[in-house]
Amino acid sequence: MRRLNTQVVIIGAGPSGLLLSHLLSRRGVESVVLERRTREYVEQRVRAGLLEQGTVDLLRGAGLADRLDREGLVHEGFLLRFEGREYRLCFTDLTGWTTCMYGQQEVVKDLIKARETACGQLYFGVEDAAPLDIETDAPRVRCTMGGEAVEVVADFIAGCDGFHGICRPSIPSGALTTYEHAYPFAWLGILASVPPSTEELIYAVHERGFALHSMRTPAISRLYLQVGPRESLAEWPDERIWAELRTRFALDGREVLNEGPILSRGVTEMRSFVVEPMQYRRLFLVGDAAHIVPPSAAKGLNLAVADVQLLATAFTAWYANGSRELLDGYSRTALGAVWQGQEFSALMTSLLHRFPSEDDYMVRLRQARLRDLVTSRATATAFAENYVGLARARLAEAIDAPAVAPAFEQPDPPSETVTSLKTRVRDLDARGHAS
Ligand code: FAD
Ligand code: PHB
Repeated sequence: MRRLNTQVVIIGAGPSGLLLSHLLSRRGVESVVLERRTREYVEQRVRAGLLEQGTVDLLRGAGLADRLDREGLVHEGFLLRFEGREYRLCFTDLTGWTTCMYGQQEVVKDLIKARETACGQLYFGVEDAAPLDIETDAPRVRCTMGGEAVEVVADFIAGCDGFHGICRPSIPSGALTTYEHAYPFAWLGILASVPPSTEELIYAVHERGFALHSMRTPAISRLYLQVGPRESLAEWPDERIWAELRTRFALDGREVLNEGPILSRGVTEMRSFVVEPMQYRRLFLVGDAAHIVPPSAAKGLNLAVADVQLLATAFTAWYANGSRELLDGYSRTALGAVWQGQEFSALMTSLLHRFPSEDDYMVRLRQARLRDLVTSRATATAFAENYVGLARARLAEAIDAPAVAPAFEQPDPPSETVTSLKTRVRDLDARGHAS
């Protein structure tokens, strides 16, 4: 059996595993990344697309944003359609922060290139990865590479292997508590070769169900439809998809949707899941391996990046001066952000979707909440702070504050733009039928 030695062995080359390896290498910590799929597969997998400003800043700070800065589409607001009207929520006016549309697979391509340039140890097509001896000081991952049995011995294992990975199930039953919730609907997502119909995202609340218009580039649109929980793609030929999108985005009978060839399609189940703690001895769970959210609020990738940032800092402190404080605190700190993301994702999901069991009373309540969002600056600001990730930055600062601290007086997040925002107040721009 071939043996490799490293400091951190990382299972999974999704955004979490690749970014962790990259950050560690910049801080002088060695890692080996083991990925089950091929490079082509992970580079083509269509998933997330909305990066919070904090995520972009982190990627930029890590030297990963050359192409992102050239090609990413910076957004300052989104459109919300309900009851036949369209409203614009300008989250940048409310928070000072922006978001950026840039496909997850592009982030993954940039990360793989960066690992290659740094001669990082990144292996694709790795089969049967099995974490072993995780309760000892020398955990191992046994696997098969190109038909050969290989054992990677390390100080730590990072489980960056997503929701269906091997790391979480390797932890003894009873050591983790699971919290989960399944929604009674799913998202049918398409990627279409057509310029986006608008510059900003459109969230459309319709009696037939929710629809989202998003984008990846000036030539590629990304659209989603709320569908039944176990919907088969066979029931959704192209014409039915476009007809349903046209209906849900219709505004006073106006045809507003650009249509074009569908490049890929898929059904995403809507589910929330968290395990606590996100660590068992020398095995740390990161990103989707520990928690998933329904895609409504676009938090999954951003929460994964937040975990990576914490864990990379904790490993660096361990190797720099033997300090285990940050490693011991990883799960607690990460879970604070995770539950905040869970809460906001659940809120957006309940606000935007038609629930099959919903009675007319519940529909009216949802409409009242939507009206409040577009008329109350306080509600819109709280919403926007979560949407752009500012609420998470504030929480991270608050966790370091004294145990007894006055509510609302946590320090501002480290951003010039947020401070300057306090002097910039503009009303929500509500657009009626005729505009
Ligand atoms: P993954 O991306 O799942 O990566 C895990 C990796 O581990 C994979 O490459 C997998 O092949 C590998 N692996 C698994 N098992 C093994 C094994 N046994 N051995 C070796 N390797 C293994 N998030 C957002 O922030 N914004 C959005 O707009 C958004 N939209 C989304 C839309 C859709 C349709 C979906 C499905 C998700 C969306 N998300 C979004 C969520 C986001 O894509 C995930 O949160 C993100 O991929 C998590 O990254 P990860 O690296 O933790 O896990
Ligand atoms: C996406 O582009 O995939 C996306 C954007 C915003 C969301 C969810 C998904 O709220």
